[in-house]
Amino acid sequence: HSDVDVVVASLVPAYGCQRRTPLTNKNCIFTDALETLSKEASFCGSDGRSLAFIRAASVLRSLPSTLTTIEELNRLPGFGEHSKRVVQEILEDGFSAEVERVTQKEKYQTMKLFTNIFGVGMKTANRWYQEGLRSLGDLRNSQKLKLSKQQEAGLQHYEDLNMPVSRAEADLIAKMVEEVAHSFLPGTIITLAGGFRRGKLSGHDVDILITHAQEGREEGLLSKVIGQLQSQGLILYHDLKRNSYHDAFSPDSKSTSNMDHFERSFSIFRLKVASHIGDIGARDHSPESSKDWKAVRVDLVVTPISQYPYALLGWTGSKHFERELRRFSCNEKKMVLNSHALYDTVEVQVAISQS
Ligand code: CTP
Ligand code: MN
Ligand code: MN
Ligand code: MN
Repeated sequence: HSDVDVVVASLVPAYGCQRRTPLTNKNCIFTDALETLSKEASFCGSDGRSLAFIRAASVLRSLPSTLTTIEELNRLPGFGEHSKRVVQEILEDGFSAEVERVTQKEKYQTMKLFTNIFGVGMKTANRWYQEGLRSLGDLRNSQKLKLSKQQEAGLQHYEDLNMPVSRAEADLIAKMVEEVAHSFLPGTIITLAGGFRRGKLSGHDVDILITHAQEGREEGLLSKVIGQLQSQGLILYHDLKRNSYHDAFSPDSKSTSNMDHFERSFSIFRLKVASHIGDIGARDHSPESSKDWKAVRVDLVVTPISQYPYALLGWTGSKHFERELRRFSCNEKKMVLNSHALYDTVEVQVAISQS
């Protein structure tokens, strides 16, 4: 038994980016619980605790089969005391009392609801909660609430945006974007990234990278594409951000975020879907039941071809995989990886000291 244990333990590497992870998660009973606790920790502002639960969940996701014993758990990397206790509880009782308690909490439920609105982050959700707001109705009816354009769109299309996007819908949107892009710039390369590139069958949005084999030709394309789609009535919301790569690396830059600096648009598309006429039981003809479109979140990102490999890697995800890849680069290789480049920090230091 014990020789096998050692082999098994060595098969689960410590960095998430070193592990193969099957598409279907055999351990969702545990990972769902850990992810709930991760969310709860982040709602309380404890980012470190939140990440610890994500780490533990990520290890279980990589296993080819369902965890059945505590001995197996003890051989896995990445588990702190708290995560171990939760998994142990589920192994013994079939559920975790702590997790049940968390999901019953009014604050947890409200924060989850609010942060699921496009454009609403932890800070805003928390402020609304402190102000006594509890439901989407509360937000919609509030007189004094000042919503950003993005939040207004997020609230307006809440139901659609919280419905999963299918692979077929994602392909359709990529094709729409490709057609319009080609009408302005033949040879534009459109790539479906995000969860769909990892083989997922559904997702919460559509992530699209846009580039061109000739460096520089991609500049200015996005606003034309968006403008064209908008004139066709296919855009419900968009927020074009210009490329800020050079600002970010200029000496007087105040930017400290890990966000990338590509030209992009975080938008909402109006996607035609098969109408529901003829559905069994579709007797009433309320506007809702005859709605033949669906709001879909789309992230459009433009990259020069020279940075495309890094952008593709950075936008394929998952979020945790990317975080781990960057941690691995920094700690194990002394290199910096982001969505623009991979470079050697030692060489940069030498270059600086010589200049
Ligand atoms: N990403 C990024 N910068 C952002 C938003 C996202 O670099 N401002 C990257 C994330 O790191 C992730 C990828 O884009 O690797 C996709 O992010 P997202 O769409 O949020 O998640 P998915 O993995 O695609 O999952 P889902 O199906 O829920 O969309
Ligand atoms: Mn017990
Ligand atoms: Mn996505
Ligand atoms: Mn996205």
